[in-house]
Amino acid sequence: MPFALITGASKGIGKSIAEILAARGYDLLLVARSSDLLEKVSKEIQDATSKTCAWLSLDLSESQAAEKVYDWCKKNQYTVSVLVNNAGYGLSGSFEKYSPLEHEQMLQVNIVTLTKLTRLFLPDLLQLPEAYILNIGSSASYQAVPFLSAYAASKAYVLSFSRGLHQELKKTSVSVTCICPGPTDTNFVNRANVGAKGQKTAERFNMTPQAVAKIAVDSLFHRRPEVITGAMNKLSAFFAWLLPKTVVEGIAKKLYD
Ligand SMILES: NC(=O)c1ccc[n+]([C@@H]2O[C@H](COP(=O)([O-])OP(=O)(O)OC[C@H]3O[C@@H](n4cnc5c(N)ncnc54)[C@H](OP(=O)(O)O)[C@@H]3O)[C@@H](O)[C@H]2O)c1
Repeated sequence: MPFALITGASKGIGKSIAEILAARGYDLLLVARSSDLLEKVSKEIQDATSKTCAWLSLDLSESQAAEKVYDWCKKNQYTVSVLVNNAGYGLSGSFEKYSPLEHEQMLQVNIVTLTKLTRLFLPDLLQLPEAYILNIGSSASYQAVPFLSAYAASKAYVLSFSRGLHQELKKTSVSVTCICPGPTDTNFVNRANVGAKGQKTAERFNMTPQAVAKIAVDSLFHRRPEVITGAMNKLSAFFAWLLPKTVVEGIAKKLYD
């Protein structure tokens, strides 16, 4: 069976997506920076499912990261039929709190590497009778989020890009799905440096990464263009659409300032 390639598979939502895809019979290719965690996750999955599980430790903020992932697959003759662009993170707090380089690295992971991986793998995916791309957006894809501004904008890109590509590829064997999780109990808030107020709100509404991953994988195989995880997140996206933008942004601002 061809491989499922999952970025950001060392922990959180990506790890859960990897576990579900292995249970559904896929061999796996896992990419993230933490080699110790990748080794552990791949051993756990191999022991539980006897699926092949190869991993690559790589910083996806490097400018040539997508090419390195693609070359690794070519060199080892891994045929990818499911591409999961999951790796991503936020930078919470005032925009100028972070250096230009820190913003560049985040945008590189959230936007540029995701786009380049999609572009590099697409011709190969189109050769297969069935292939899938899954991109991870966010509830932040639906509105500006002050004090998480660049992250929210990057996730608006992911959703818009995914929907556009879904339509472009509609008559092909490749489907593109974007799932948009709200607060999920992972390392996200720590990595993003979310303050106490935002953390408390996240804890109140947190879904488990396993629940989010199940929705993601089901949506992928149903070839859905866009899925918001959980009733609360669906409701908040609805209100973000319904209410004046300044009201929605004012509420979001209180969480992250
Ligand atoms: N948790 C939430 O509340 C939430 C809500 C909406 C959307 N999301 C999105 O869900 C996705 C998964 O995040 P998560 O919640 O599972 O967070 P997480 O637990 O922090 O996992 C993030 C994953 O991305 C990898 N990653 C981060 N920076 C990387 C880099 N420079 N190079 C390679 N890999 C990198 C991490 O691996 P290493 O650290 O080992 O590199 C890890 O495997 C992200 O796109 C995030 O934006 C999360």
